[in-house]
Amino acid sequence: HTKAITPPDIRSRKGGTPLVCLTAYTTPIAKLVDRHCDIVLVGDSVGMVLHGLPSTLGVTLEMMVMHGQAVRRGLEQALMIVDMPFGSYEESLEQAFRNAARVMAETGCAAVKLEGGQAMAETIRFLTSRGVPVMGHVGLTPQAVNTFGGYRVQGRGGDAERVGADALAVREAGAFAVVLEKVPEALARRITAEVAIPTIGIGASAACDGQILVVDDMLGIFGDFRPKFVKRYAELGEIAEAAIAVYAQEVRDRRFPAAEHLFGDAPRTVNGGEV
Ligand code: KIV
Ligand code: NA
Repeated sequence: HTKAITPPDIRSRKGGTPLVCLTAYTTPIAKLVDRHCDIVLVGDSVGMVLHGLPSTLGVTLEMMVMHGQAVRRGLEQALMIVDMPFGSYEESLEQAFRNAARVMAETGCAAVKLEGGQAMAETIRFLTSRGVPVMGHVGLTPQAVNTFGGYRVQGRGGDAERVGADALAVREAGAFAVVLEKVPEALARRITAEVAIPTIGIGASAACDGQILVVDDMLGIFGDFRPKFVKRYAELGEIAEAAIAVYAQEVRDRRFPAAEHLFGDAPRTVNGGEV
């Protein structure tokens, strides 16, 4: 099968055909997205999307490792990146390397992502110079929700300088790509022109070098959450709920299981197999 995409491959796509990126947290979804995506991110959004947590702050390294292992089994082609969760990399350079190395060794991912610009530049430099490719994440960084006081657009007005400096710092520290989350279009365009690595936008306009969405959001599975920047490409939650309602009614009516779903007293052979 095709050779897997590497961090340098992604780096070399700056300014080219937009990079297609989605999250995945499980093997079956990883299999679905693999052949369509350049990057599959095991995001710490898993905490909110699959575990019902109120923010990403409660996500642990163990959760990231477990979902990373599941996703790994479903990928052949896309570059797999795993998010470093809150508290697993901010304390010291050594802590960041120890935990990033563990994530890479235990999941088989080829890169990690961590949040923060200028404040994390030294950490990104430490990791990238020691065999850990890093994707940065600036603009709205959800692990800093309490610092921001919510999930607001970042980089408006005089705040644009800060976000621009964050993106530049991440690239100078050696990151091979950077996620730009929830920033105005003009700023995303400027940053994309100024930094030499691909910008991956989420709520950051088509000016970026690529796009990422949370797969459950774009499929309409994670129903309660409808931010402006998410386009719903399907309403799988509605389809699933309708199916569950039919099942419930059929059980109550004793219409399920039907003849084709049940076992008789004597074994029968159909197409060479016992049923
Ligand atoms: O956790 C996540 O899913 C992310 C992406 C949306 C960028 O960080
Ligand atoms: Na994340």
